[in-house]
Amino acid sequence: MNMKNYAVITGASSGIGQAFAREFARRGISTIMVARSEEKLNQLSAELESKFNADAISFPMDLADLSSRSSLVKFCATNNLEIDYLVNSAGYGSNGLFHKLDIQREMRMAELNCLALQELNYEFVKVFLKKKRGTIINIASTAAFQPVPFMASYAATKSFVLSFRLALHRELKGSGVNVMAVCPGPVGTNFFDNAGIKSSPTFPSMHTPSYVVKKVF
Ligand SMILES: NC(=O)c1ccc[n+]([C@@H]2O[C@H](COP(=O)([O-])OP(=O)(O)OC[C@H]3O[C@@H](n4cnc5c(N)ncnc54)[C@H](OP(=O)(O)O)[C@@H]3O)[C@@H](O)[C@H]2O)c1
Repeated sequence: MNMKNYAVITGASSGIGQAFAREFARRGISTIMVARSEEKLNQLSAELESKFNADAISFPMDLADLSSRSSLVKFCATNNLEIDYLVNSAGYGSNGLFHKLDIQREMRMAELNCLALQELNYEFVKVFLKKKRGTIINIASTAAFQPVPFMASYAATKSFVLSFRLALHRELKGSGVNVMAVCPGPVGTNFFDNAGIKSSPTFPSMHTPSYVVKKVF
């Protein structure tokens, strides 16, 4: 029987999710690393397994694809993996006048940032409640706290994450299941390129992904 403890980490191929994968591995916690970029996940898996005494399972999938999302939960159940943590870091943003953006991309963003996160919270809260133990770390943003013109959809998705977490946290009080929302300001990752923010913004402080992770642990 596999007695290792696992963390499921979405968005593990890059940025904040990757930093979480490294930190869990460093602490001897095995990881199931989810993102679309199979090659990047495989490289990270090889690196973490060679450095640390923990499994680092690469699980390539598109979380914005509703029909394939259940495969992750099924994989964990079928293999009797002892999941103690879920980190929802997969996500992206966009930038510009809402009515000029690509609506298909905006809708996929809502599917990923909100609905995939919602579904994984649903599935893993049930798993964690059965054993009265488990932690869910949902990556929101400082964009969650107010409307953000030119990032209208993105900020709204992050408000969803924060509001959802606050309610779940209350519902689960005393159950042994902890649901968190992390609200970073600007972090130096691929996020800005992917959001179409061309010129490097001169934010007063751009944190590193590992800084965000250290604040959580
Ligand atoms: N960077 C910031 O300033 C900042 C600030 C506050 C909050 N955040 C939030 O932090 C989280 C992580 O972002 P990051 O800054 O680390 O950016 P990042 O480096 O671009 O990482 C995004 C991750 O999401 C994955 N992803 C994107 N679409 C996916 C899909 N359809 N299915 C599965 N995985 C998908 C990407 O992997 P693949 O491309 O391989 O799929 C990648 O691993 C996001 O939720 C973001 O909104 C970022």
